[in-house]
Amino acid sequence: MFMLIKKNENEEVKKNEENPVDEQKKEDSKCPLSKKIQELLVRQLKHELQNHNIYMNFANYFGTRGLTKLEQYFVERANEEYLHHTWIRKYLNENDVEFVNPVIDSFDEKIDDMLMPFEATVELENYTTELIHEITDQAFDERDWLTFSWLTGNDKNKGMLLVEQVEEMSISRTVNDIAHSDESWLVKESSILHAYEHRD
Ligand SMILES: [Fe+2]
Ligand SMILES: [Fe+2]
Repeated sequence: MFMLIKKNENEEVKKNEENPVDEQKKEDSKCPLSKKIQELLVRQLKHELQNHNIYMNFANYFGTRGLTKLEQYFVERANEEYLHHTWIRKYLNENDVEFVNPVIDSFDEKIDDMLMPFEATVELENYTTELIHEITDQAFDERDWLTFSWLTGNDKNKGMLLVEQVEEMSISRTVNDIAHSDESWLVKESSILHAYEHRD
């Protein structure tokens, strides 16, 4: 699942890696971020928007089947993704990074059954964590402590990209376990929404 997203995102960054000048800090001192950090952040900007879109598709899937609590669960997950996207946009703007706002790929995964969205969410959040680790590794290697401290921060307005993944992966696993239990979907949808809304 989501192989297409992984392939596209990695190719975008690789394409830019071919220019050795991009390895250096931007010569124009207007922006304190290296080209590589900029590229990784723009990739993440797109990825979070892509996650938002995927969760909205899952919301539609359940909404059209009368499972409105699962629809609500995925809409709220999608809203969180938009918030993550916003943190990155603000950080890029604050650092005077000019970028083309990314266009996301349309959702083309087949939802085979009711369990697929929950399994896919676990997989997607694990992959999201890997991508954020890559940015953190890069910031560390470059001694870009401003980006490093922003990534490792814990501020709901400015961003908390890395630490947020603990919650994102944890709730995804919990909800996936509930989805796989033997209860009816009417019971499971209430349990899922309850678990999500009491996750803190
Ligand atoms: Fe996210
Ligand atoms: Fe979250």
